[in-house]
Amino acid sequence: MERTLAIIKPDAVERGLVGEILKRIEDEGLRIVALKMVRMSKTEAEGFYYVHRERPFFSSLTDFMSSGPIVVAVLEGEEAIERWRRIMGATDPAQADPGTIRKTYGINIERNSVHGSDSPESARYEVPFFFSRLEMVNP
Ligand code: RTP
Ligand code: MG
Repeated sequence: MERTLAIIKPDAVERGLVGEILKRIEDEGLRIVALKMVRMSKTEAEGFYYVHRERPFFSSLTDFMSSGPIVVAVLEGEEAIERWRRIMGATDPAQADPGTIRKTYGINIERNSVHGSDSPESARYEVPFFFSRLEMVNP
C-alpha cells in the first residue's frame, strides 16, 4: 500500500469541480484517507513548492496556488502515486491523454486543475505538509 498527496487546485475549486474530481478518485478505486479544504498563503505555497524555487514559473505558480481555496487529500492504494499521476495526465493539458483529468478540465500548463506527488520521497514531504497522523484514517 502506498499513499500520495492529491490537490484540487484553485482553478478547479473555483469552477465547482470538487465533487466530480473526488468521484473520479473513488471510481478509480483509490481510497481517500484524509481530506480538507484550505487556502494557502503565498509563503506556504512557496514552502510546498520549494523544489521548484529555481524554476522560471515559481513566482507565478505560488501566486496561483495561493489565489483561492484548494482541496487536499491523501489517497491510498497499490501504486497510488503512479496511478494518480496517470489519472491526472501530463502537466500541460494540451499534451495530456484523452480521459485524463487535466485533458478534461485543465485550462493551461499552470491552471491544470490537480496535483499529485511524483515519487515516494515527494509524498513523504507533501503528506505531512498538510496532514498530521491523527488526521489520516487508519484501516
Ligand atoms: P504537480 O506537481 O502540480 O502535480 O504537476 P507536475 O508534477 O505535472 O508538474 P511540475 O513540473 O511539478 O510543476 C508543478 C506545477 O507548476 C506549474 N507549471 N507551470 N508555466 C510553466 O511552464 C509551468 N510548468 C509547470 C503547473 O501548475 C504544474 O502542475
Ligand atoms: Mg510535480
